[in-house]
Amino acid sequence: MTAKTVIKKDKLWGGRFFGSTDYLLERLSTSVNFDYRLALFDIEGSQAHARMLGEVGLLTCDESCKIVLGLEKLKKKIQTGNFNWDPGAEDVHMNLELALTELIGPTGKKLHTARSRNDQVALDTCLYLRATVEQVGVDLLGLREALLDKAAAVKDAPMPGYTHLQHAQPILLAHHLLAYAQMLSRDQERLNNLGQRLDYMPLGSGALSGTGLPIDPERVARDLGFSRLSENSLDAVAGRDHLLEFLAFGAILMTHLSRLAEDLILWCSQEFAFAELPDELSTGSSMMPQKKNPDGAELMRGKAGRVIGNLVTLLTVVKGLPLSYNRDLQEDKEPLFDTADTLRLILPVATKMIAGLKFNFERLRLAADGPYTPATDLADHLVRRGVPFREAHNQAGVAVAYALKKNKALAELTLDELKRCCPKVEKSIFDEMTLPAMLAARSTFGGTAPSSVARQLKTARLKLIWEIQEIKKGIGRYVPSHPES
Ligand code: ARG
Repeated sequence: MTAKTVIKKDKLWGGRFFGSTDYLLERLSTSVNFDYRLALFDIEGSQAHARMLGEVGLLTCDESCKIVLGLEKLKKKIQTGNFNWDPGAEDVHMNLELALTELIGPTGKKLHTARSRNDQVALDTCLYLRATVEQVGVDLLGLREALLDKAAAVKDAPMPGYTHLQHAQPILLAHHLLAYAQMLSRDQERLNNLGQRLDYMPLGSGALSGTGLPIDPERVARDLGFSRLSENSLDAVAGRDHLLEFLAFGAILMTHLSRLAEDLILWCSQEFAFAELPDELSTGSSMMPQKKNPDGAELMRGKAGRVIGNLVTLLTVVKGLPLSYNRDLQEDKEPLFDTADTLRLILPVATKMIAGLKFNFERLRLAADGPYTPATDLADHLVRRGVPFREAHNQAGVAVAYALKKNKALAELTLDELKRCCPKVEKSIFDEMTLPAMLAARSTFGGTAPSSVARQLKTARLKLIWEIQEIKKGIGRYVPSHPES
């Protein structure tokens, strides 16, 4: 057979090959079954590229228009689910290029002028991530808003504060909810920050070193809404830290949500009985008719595992790679999509769970008013009367041990009994050991006193309102009307 007759069937890179690809390698290397999700971004990038090629004269105006319109037709086909993806054509990029050539004829073969799949895929993932950052950002704002609303709704309700899952000091329930709001606010900052690092347009980097053809990447960047070009072509095709950053953001966020889920699960247990999830956000048991299970929260906790795994997967893929592009990098997409999908699945559920959570305020109050929780307040009382804190701590501990022996709460001891353990104690201690007094006393910045929590809530609310206004200005900017988005 001559080279002409045995060129690898349908391969866009087939020129130097004889014989066809082993089906096992074909099966290994195909990625279209997952990277088809980049299709609309790929088309957006290709259209900008084709427009630029027309402007600089690498294509005629007619050719450039033909390509742009042909791609538009393919876009419609994809959006209506009428595009047939061919695994034999390897990936989304080659599928689209082959389909374009089939549709508009040999002009389609000019689209890849001055471009490599290496800079093409770097652009596509960047565009995908830009849209995803926007969508996840909106979902996250929703959850933060639900937390603030709930914190406002529960007013000054107390609950026990825990360290080591042991009663520590009383706190406001709102304070506990706002702790999560603060973590998520930082997550949102991390996400926004990452958005800035996505603002580099990689096209023009070619396979690794740029191109000798007279292109105008600034034109492409403007067209696609990027402010800057990638500074280094090797970095542009081989760097994946923006994806890693998103996966790290996702892993941290899911870790926060997993802790929140754990709290909800504990609160909804019979032992705690602090809260109940609404029926529509709970599940039953196939065997035990009485069960009402917090499966949603458990999955929220469980799915943190895969999202953390996605980060570790990509870190591991990238860590040993010499510069520049290596095919290993194709393994970046599934973890990326999976983290994005998981976040988009979990965040709205978490928002509903927080909004629907019903609290048993009486149980919370009784638990907050535990028999020995005023111990720190007793020590502080002594400190105010000149007792060194270490000694005060010790004396209050002796008082606790005495009360335990007498089977009494700390506040049930008489002044004489207290004085035996803590000589400097005064009568006013009894006012200081009530639940409202213990709460009000912790009025430091960020503390649990109703006044501090009210300030915290107000600041968090103002910040959130500002962020919602900012995001609204740009909403939908980067998200194509994909059936999945
Ligand atoms: N599907 C490939 C990826 O996702 C596209 C780039 C292929 N480049 C190459 N030199 N084989 O990484």
